Order: sequence, then structure tokens, then C-alpha cells
Amino acid sequence: MIKVDHISKHFEHTQALSDVSLEIDKGEIVSLIGPSGSGKSTLLRCIHGLEHPESGKIYLEDEWMDPSDEEKFRAQRSKMGFVFQHFNLFPNMTVIENCTLAQINVLQRSQEESEKIAMQYLTRVGLAEKRDEYPNKLSGGQKQRVAIARALCLHPEIMLFDEPTSALDPEMIKEVLEVMTNLAEEGMTMIVVTHEMGFARKVGSRVVFLDSGKIVEDAPSDQFFEHPQSDRAKDFLSKVFYQ
Ligand SMILES: Nc1ncnc2c1ncn2[C@@H]1O[C@H](COP(=O)(O)OP(=O)(O)O)[C@@H](O)[C@H]1O
Ligand SMILES: [Mg+2]
Repeated sequence: MIKVDHISKHFEHTQALSDVSLEIDKGEIVSLIGPSGSGKSTLLRCIHGLEHPESGKIYLEDEWMDPSDEEKFRAQRSKMGFVFQHFNLFPNMTVIENCTLAQINVLQRSQEESEKIAMQYLTRVGLAEKRDEYPNKLSGGQKQRVAIARALCLHPEIMLFDEPTSALDPEMIKEVLEVMTNLAEEGMTMIVVTHEMGFARKVGSRVVFLDSGKIVEDAPSDQFFEHPQSDRAKDFLSKVFYQ
């Protein structure tokens, strides 16, 4: 479904990604893990077309995502839902308005249809009764569940998550991981940057471990956690498990 073909990306003096290649099939749940600054967000943002690699290409369903072909690029991007660490809800809009805005503006759905679809997904994340609240009245976990519902309203074929639980208090992490686990069980293709090793191990089908802008390991989850191959991955796992 996604093919990342030899991409590199630098910012000023930082080589954020060096010659990264990766293929993700439909239905895979890929956990992107690695130390801070290893390039996880940059890789996810390149896949979503928020950043452009200076070399290499991204393919979605065998079609190159060419940023210069603006209309097609926009259509390709709209097949991917993106969930941010800090939710990125519009603070001046209610929950339902957050969920209908892009449906109306991007997909040209009617107000009525957009609201119906929004309510389906808000119900799925357990927040139907919050439809008319503003984000500042919600807990962090609720905000993130709204952000997930908002992304799902566009019927994405793949969901990208960038540390969706890192900004949450511990007691709210579980409710967000539950929503993500349900999505995974329904067969959604997902790429998840996460420090939740329990989630990566139990729900993820595969782990891609990045260090210094390179993929150091790419293995089925069980294999990665039971038998990491590289010293870097062993060192990383020893820290996240025993800290
Ligand atoms: N917009 C940016 N401007 C300058 N440097 C950046 C930018 N985004 C990322 N970087 C740098 O690129 C490297 C990889 O960053 P990032 O992809 O955010 O890593 P991670 O998500 O794994 O923590 C880091 O050294 C970071 O400081
Ligand atoms: Mg990051």
C-alpha cells in the first residue's frame, strides 16, 4: 500500500533521514520506534506529504506521490489520516464542527451527511454526548479520541499516528490505546510512532526501529522484542523496559 523508496531528508545541518526504504502492506500495523531525534516524525511526515524528501520517492498504491502534480497529490494525501501528539483540534470549533469541517471542505459532503458520519465515529470513540462541547472542556484523552474520530470521518485507507499518547496523563493513555486497538482489529492499515512498547508488541504486527535517520531493524513484532539483532535496538529496549 505504501512504498518508501530510498528517501533522504535534511534540515540545515541535520540529516534527519538517510536513504530510507520501507514497504507496508494493507492491514499491517507498523510500530515506528527509536530514540528521540532518530527521524520517526520526519519519516511519518514525508509519507503524509507534510515534508518533501530531497531525494527518493513515496508511492501510495503503486502511484508516485508527486508534489508537483497538485491535484493528484492532494487526493492521495486525503487517503491518509494523521493523528498528532498534540491533537491539533480547532479550539474555536465544537467537537462536531471539528469533525465535519474537512468532510464539507475537502470531500464536498453536505452538512447533513457530514454530521451523520461524524456522529457514527464519535459514537465509536465513546464521545457522542460531547458533540457540542469545545475542545477546552475535554480531557486530553477525550481530545485525542475526537482527533481520531475526525480523521476517520474522511474514510482513510491508512492511519498515521505520531506519538498519540505521549502528551497524555497515564490514566488517559489506555482509553486512546483501546480505540487504536479496535481500529487495528477491524483491519485498518496503521503506522504508529510510539513509546508504548506493550501496544507495539501486542497490537503491532511489525516493528521498524530507526536510529540516526536510518532503519536499523525491520522485523515482526515478536521477533523484534524477543530477539533484537542490533546492539542499538538491544540498548534501546533495555532502557525502555527497565527504566
Ligand atoms: N523542521 C525542522 N527543522 C530543523 N530540524 C528538524 C526539523 N524537524 C526535525 N528536525 C531534526 O531532524 C532530526 C529528526 O527529527 P524527528 O524526525 O522529529 O525525530 P523523532 O521524531 O524520532 O524524535 C532531529 O535531529 C531534529 O532535530
Ligand atoms: Mg517525533
